[in-house]
Amino acid sequence: MARYSEEDISKVREATDVVSLVRERVDLRQKGREFWGCCPFHKEKTPSFKVNPDTGLWHCFGCGEGGDAFGFIMRTDNLSFPEAVAYLADKAHIELVVDPQAAAQAGRMKRLRAICEDTATYYADYLHKSKTPAAAEARRYLAGRDFGSEIALKWRLGYAPGRGKLIEYLRSKGHRDDDLVTANVAMRSGAGLRDRFFERVMFPITDVQGRAIAFGGRILGSGEPKYLNTSETPLFHKRQNLYGLDHAKQSLITEKTALVVEGYTDVIALHRAGHSSAVATLGTALTAKQVAVLSRYVDRIVYLFDGDEAGLRAADRAVEYIDQSLSPEFAATPVKLDVALLPMGNDPADMMDSPEGQQQFAQVLKDATPLLEFAINRKMDSRDLGRPEERARALKEAAMVLVPLKGSLLVQPYAEYIADCLTRAGGDFDQSMVLEVINSTRAPAPRRIEDEEEDERVGGSDSSVGVTDVDALPRLTQTELVERELLALVLQKPSALDYVADRRDKVTLSHPLYREALSQALALRTDEVSEPVAAIDKSLPGVARLCAAYEFDTIVVEPKDLAKELVMRLQESALERQIRIIRGDLQKNEGNKALLESLYIASKELHRIRARRYQ
Ligand code: CTP
Ligand code: MN
Repeated sequence: MARYSEEDISKVREATDVVSLVRERVDLRQKGREFWGCCPFHKEKTPSFKVNPDTGLWHCFGCGEGGDAFGFIMRTDNLSFPEAVAYLADKAHIELVVDPQAAAQAGRMKRLRAICEDTATYYADYLHKSKTPAAAEARRYLAGRDFGSEIALKWRLGYAPGRGKLIEYLRSKGHRDDDLVTANVAMRSGAGLRDRFFERVMFPITDVQGRAIAFGGRILGSGEPKYLNTSETPLFHKRQNLYGLDHAKQSLITEKTALVVEGYTDVIALHRAGHSSAVATLGTALTAKQVAVLSRYVDRIVYLFDGDEAGLRAADRAVEYIDQSLSPEFAATPVKLDVALLPMGNDPADMMDSPEGQQQFAQVLKDATPLLEFAINRKMDSRDLGRPEERARALKEAAMVLVPLKGSLLVQPYAEYIADCLTRAGGDFDQSMVLEVINSTRAPAPRRIEDEEEDERVGGSDSSVGVTDVDALPRLTQTELVERELLALVLQKPSALDYVADRRDKVTLSHPLYREALSQALALRTDEVSEPVAAIDKSLPGVARLCAAYEFDTIVVEPKDLAKELVMRLQESALERQIRIIRGDLQKNEGNKALLESLYIASKELHRIRARRYQ
């Protein structure tokens, strides 16, 4: 979606002072060349968040988040990349060139948004202010469900009277018929239009910034369909949006766990009872796209199924969307997906009605199981494992659950788990039998959530000085920037150099000049030299300047801890690169044992490092 040119984007990047941008939201204190503060993305009391004006990058050693000015504003204000560019361009008074087609598109989206906002306002006003018997009945209905006016206001609940009333109102506000139909608040009927929703309590569905983009309408009392929802529109995608995300956002960021439920009323009841990280899917099973959206905020999702027929069916379908996006080493942002089934006959809203229900709910959350285990258990439970032929069928069905994850490090432990369960039931199974089923079944084409992130090249000076001048290296990759930071650190802090010396086989710098400087520093390491750089500053051009630019004198973190963090980051990106290469090779040689083995080893190592970094 190249809406803006690379040229415009770099103009904005250069015009943006990342320190003052971050300062608008974080209290920063200068230490040497860098600025430190408490991370806005996780709870902390001592600062482990730093901003480096030279690289234009920020990083938190506490939670591992990091990026540039665009990334910062995307993260704090939940903007898409183009939105972040537009926001920062505006601040810097830079006029962005937009192509006419994109401008027309943006104009239409704006009109559709305005229609949804006006519709939400109309429905809410009708609910709260109308003197009609219908509105009174709607108020009674909501109050009967304990959704009094305070709750109704918070969630912008409303009432749709129908009979063209909404259309009349929207036309009076100057909206066009075409747009009303596109926004799906009205439908064509003969030569005219009719309201899409009538005589229903309305739940506006909002985007992450709280703007109405669609609606769910519930019938008062019983009747079919119980809920009528907005169909797909340019603004609303039911497989992508989540109900309640705007209200849940803050808790998601701090608690790092999302609760995914099925209904609008469940979300409202859960938030009221203090579970403010609840969101709901919109009439579909949780999709990979929604998992990706949530994984921007959390590292764990608990997916709750109602204890009724529909809930059980949904639980069984859960296995259909197990795919590589769940696998820690394949996903852009790995997220742990746990599943819990509510007691028969209950949904979260019911359970929030009584203290006992609330307690029971808390227990259900505690008992949540990893999705894969849950899916495998459901397959096992549906068979009578006392009988050999049923065990054989269970083996096959349970193994099929793992097929979409072929090549992932998750497969092996779960194959073992399946074999164990069956052996305990009286058979004689081992994991190779499970793996055989998996390997003889073709994996479905992986659904990619986002394009793989390449090591993004970030700006540097465009000076024509050769590679010998460290400060003037024309373009450094993200990895090289980390290498540079590590090098400057070890050249100034003996304890950091000691740390690296102890693991010299694990630290290989990709940049030739940095590699050379590091090996010299290691060779010259003596007890007498308090600053290793003193020993080598004459032998390598630019190193002294590099150290001046990266002054670690007043560093907040222990040099050794910072070295550890940087080394882990380097190991992580080296492994990510290696895994990408192996995966490429595996596509050409499907099922190759040696490749699978090395993928397994690399993935396990990556997993271990990540677990240590994000513990
Ligand atoms: N749903 C839907 N269309 C229906 C029924 C349900 O889109 N005909 C979706 C709605 O998003 C609803 C969710 O599925 O919120 C859960 O359905 P259900 O459990 O039947 O509704 P509740 O949320 O429990 O609603 P209520 O408490 O009002 O009965
Ligand atoms: Mn329900």
